[in-house]
Amino acid sequence: MLAVQQLEAGYGESVILRDVSLKVEKGQVVCLLGRNGVGKTTLMRSIMGLLKARRGIVSYEKDNLTKAAPGVRAKRGIGYVPQGREIFPQLTVYENVLLGLEASREKTREIPASAIEKFPVLPTMYERRGGDLSGGQQQQLAFARALASKPEVLLLDEPCEGIQPSIVEDIRDVIRSIKAEGTTAILLVEQSLEFVQSVGDYFYILEKGAIAWEGGLEALSDEVIRTYLTV
Ligand SMILES: Nc1ncnc2c1ncn2[C@@H]1O[C@H](COP(=O)(O)OP(=O)(O)OP(=O)(O)O)[C@@H](O)[C@H]1O
Ligand SMILES: [Mg+2]
Repeated sequence: MLAVQQLEAGYGESVILRDVSLKVEKGQVVCLLGRNGVGKTTLMRSIMGLLKARRGIVSYEKDNLTKAAPGVRAKRGIGYVPQGREIFPQLTVYENVLLGLEASREKTREIPASAIEKFPVLPTMYERRGGDLSGGQQQQLAFARALASKPEVLLLDEPCEGIQPSIVEDIRDVIRSIKAEGTTAILLVEQSLEFVQSVGDYFYILEKGAIAWEGGLEALSDEVIRTYLTV
């Protein structure tokens, strides 16, 4: 289980996360919701270690990772598909996927079938430059890169943002199939309520630097949505 306890984080003088606590268990898709700019990406980056926590704890299973570098967290099994995908445009598709292997606990140079089988189009584009792919293809590449290290926790930051509908459906299927395997914990940030309601088991809503609401699918009522999510 991934656990965040009383996390505080920010940039310079500004405190973005004041007091955030949440949990994600294997086989679950936990969704993190909140209006634009509330700090969802900041939380993802703090869990990954790309931003230092000023207070609080990030742990996975029995390991306290609060002070661990991003590479250590990745090796411990945390995979990240960042908002905006962050593909290396000059590297080939194959090289981009290979980069994901850096975080693997196994000393292999071989991309595992589990990373690629969900995106059959990728191997047909291995020699192309990452920057030449469409947005949807880059998103699939970012997913494959994260899956290459066989993560136990997957952080997905707006995987459907700016993606054509057919690839959104592919991503929905991928998330469902990872969930069905039951061995990975998924923390998902996504703007589309329809999407999160179709895959999510549990929901946290971030507001003013803290979790303002949490609950299961049936509790995520229109009123909750109006109160915390409508602009
Ligand atoms: N590198 C940075 N330096 C300074 N401030 C930042 C930085 N990154 C983000 N912020 C600020 O932190 C706040 C939270 O940003 P963050 O990107 O975490 O929000 P978000 O919930 O992911 O938003 P969105 O829904 O637009 O993706 C915003 O006010 C943003 O301007
Ligand atoms: Mg964001």
